[in-house]
Amino acid sequence: MSSNADIYHEIIVDYSRNPINYGKIEDHDVTFHDSNPLCGDSIDIDLKINDEKVTDIKFHGKGCAICMACSSVLTEITKGKSLDDVRKIEKNDVLSELGLEHLQAVRIKCALLSLKVLKSALYTYLGKHLENSQDMDKLKDEAANLY
Ligand code: FES
Repeated sequence: MSSNADIYHEIIVDYSRNPINYGKIEDHDVTFHDSNPLCGDSIDIDLKINDEKVTDIKFHGKGCAICMACSSVLTEITKGKSLDDVRKIEKNDVLSELGLEHLQAVRIKCALLSLKVLKSALYTYLGKHLENSQDMDKLKDEAANLY
């Protein structure tokens, strides 16, 4: 009988071979890129936003199996959500989907690279669309405390 760890391992390998929402959105409303300086892996996320909702999201780039699996899961979680709800996505929302809550510190950056890119894309978009300076200050606080 397979253990939970084996099942999660299979899911991660499967996502890394067949990533979900992989690609580009040519007419995106915002895009962001970042990389993990320790390994050189990099992720881009494109968002299409309509009526304060993420109507489409795609990612591309390269990363280890954990990075690609977490990117797939994150894009699935994000698609269709309101911008407010995307702001509330936390690291455990992604990690728990893949049984990675107790990942070693060195691999956490692999798992959370896409979340960092998504939040940065969101803050870039909101930064351009917010007129209220109080909202902007709140956003800067959130950006500084991503993890
Ligand atoms: Fe580069 Fe995991 S080894 S993101």
